[in-house]
Amino acid sequence: MRNRLGGSPPKSPCASDEVAALLPGGLRVAKPERPSTSWKILAALVVIGAALVIVATCLIRRTRKEESYYLVHNAVVHTVDPAVQRAEAFVVKDGRFVAVGTYAQLKQEHPAAVGFDAKQQNIVPGLIDSHGHLIEQGLAFLQADVTGSASISAVRQNLIRYLDANPVIEREGDWVTGKGWDQTIWPETSFKFPNATDLDVDHRLAKVPICLFRLDYHAFWLNTAALERVASYLPEPGVPIDGGEAIRDANGHLTGVLLDRAMDMIEGALPQPSEARVKEALKAVTRNMVENGLTGLHDAGVPPWQMRALRKAIDEKRMPIRNYAMVRCPNPEKYCGDLFEKGTYGDRLTVGSVKLFLDGAVGSWGAAMLDPYSDDSSKSGFLRLPEKIIPDLIAEWADNGFQVNIHCIGDRANKLALDGFESYFSQHGVNGTERRMRIEHAQIIAEADIARFASLGVIPSMQPTHATTDMSYVEKRLGPKRVRGAYAWRSLLSAGVKHIALGSDFPIEGVNPLLGIHAAVTRLDPAGHSPHGPNGWFPEQKLTPMEALRGFTLDAAWAAFQEDELGSIAVGKKADFAVFDRDFLSNGANILQAKCVATFVDGQAVFGMI
Ligand SMILES: *[C@@H]1O[C@H](CO)[C@@H](O)[C@H](O)[C@H]1NC(C)=O
Ligand SMILES: *[C@@H]1O[C@H](CO)[C@@H](O)[C@H](O)[C@H]1NC(C)=O
Ligand SMILES: [Zn+2]
Repeated sequence: MRNRLGGSPPKSPCASDEVAALLPGGLRVAKPERPSTSWKILAALVVIGAALVIVATCLIRRTRKEESYYLVHNAVVHTVDPAVQRAEAFVVKDGRFVAVGTYAQLKQEHPAAVGFDAKQQNIVPGLIDSHGHLIEQGLAFLQADVTGSASISAVRQNLIRYLDANPVIEREGDWVTGKGWDQTIWPETSFKFPNATDLDVDHRLAKVPICLFRLDYHAFWLNTAALERVASYLPEPGVPIDGGEAIRDANGHLTGVLLDRAMDMIEGALPQPSEARVKEALKAVTRNMVENGLTGLHDAGVPPWQMRALRKAIDEKRMPIRNYAMVRCPNPEKYCGDLFEKGTYGDRLTVGSVKLFLDGAVGSWGAAMLDPYSDDSSKSGFLRLPEKIIPDLIAEWADNGFQVNIHCIGDRANKLALDGFESYFSQHGVNGTERRMRIEHAQIIAEADIARFASLGVIPSMQPTHATTDMSYVEKRLGPKRVRGAYAWRSLLSAGVKHIALGSDFPIEGVNPLLGIHAAVTRLDPAGHSPHGPNGWFPEQKLTPMEALRGFTLDAAWAAFQEDELGSIAVGKKADFAVFDRDFLSNGANILQAKCVATFVDGQAVFGMI
């Protein structure tokens, strides 16, 4: 159930901005023609007539699409507004909801609004992914994707196909970057890590530098041409890497696999995507988002170069979605807020939060734990920031007016972040409700810390699909006691947490938010399985469909200080909404079958139509 690219329906000539160029141009070309004979006049008239039909058709459809005052009725509206919940109709005017209620009442109050019959389709507030990586996902769409390759030779075949489809790479000696390999499904290598030679054996693959993310983004696999370019960025053989590893053979030679912190070290050697490629990436990812009903995301770690690309896209009207961007520093240990302009840009980009990283991931034993892992007692994870600087770093960002959002997977990381927030709040006489500090992932929480989220008002920003992706091994890794505090959505709510922001962490998981809603509601993988059977993995932690929807709408908005403008279909809010072909809230069996048919931002269709 990974996302697909190019899944959009064929474009009608009216569906895009291209038509704007066609309208005046089509007439202007026809007019200056001065045919000297009658058959030429006739021919010209036929041409003009045909053009007018096209233009008229487009105008009608454009009007329908770009109407600014309209009444949507005969809909099943899930408002996510606690006061109303369900409605059959609403009115949009100048990009905002101005009324929600029954058709009879709204028709009377808004006689001038153009009516749209939603034909009993389901409408929800525009979905917001509370934790995704926009440009990374866009680039991932353009990269080589070897996901599902069942052997190393299948990986090679996939890469050759990619080279065939992208001849510029071999011509220019560009890098091949890609993702998706998983040695745990390769019997030919006894499930061990691959090496550079495994790629070099194909002469075409030997010639271009290749760097491939493992499925979980916690390892790189490089060929020899790539290793030659990155080797100088890594420490000498025998020198350990804190929180990572550059795997070497018995002779001290790099084998071609780098883990965690070793991956960060070679970042400077990796190619920066060109401006044209970033533009293409943004187009691919934003299109995919709106096709899935997403009208916004919280972009979980935006460095300065990405911020520039986002602003440029907004200037050029290439940004159909809203981005609540968490800034990310070149040096994660230092405050760098001055590199960014706070505030909202072009009504599409909001900057006022920072993403810090406290630990690694549980899949590679990198999540920082209070006690050693149950399946490897030699490991207890690692911190990505020195423990003693955490409180000061939080304080410095907070003093500068930033919301502080910290990546914490392990129970130790979560505890340290809560400690840091707590001391900041008590020293400054503020509370979490005002500052809305967030813990990104909040994946494994010690029992004693669950209630602290509630008492401190710290927002857990969680990814339901991580639970279903990890559930096959995580119980063994954490042991029977600690696993009860993992992906513990219900425990957090029961402890008094009011808002859980939900997201996907794309590109690590799929973009489609229904995958997350499905995981939240069922604790099953998309095929309907779990290690605890068909009722789900630790089913007592399930969310209701409404709670899951709230996590992707109103609670997401809350976590971005945007609950007055976004997150529900309520009078006064911006008219962001998505139309689905079936009711996935009343019937869980529908969640993965539901298809988004239209998405609106500021009352305008950015995908599909009602
Ligand atoms: C690389 O791995 C393959 C197995 O996939 C093995 O046959 C080969 O000897 C390894 N090469 C090196 C240089 O380690
Ligand atoms: C936090 O502060 C706000 C206003 O400053 C107040 O309304 C709220 O009750 C406080 N919350 C807690 C949990 O103390
Ligand atoms: Zn992330």
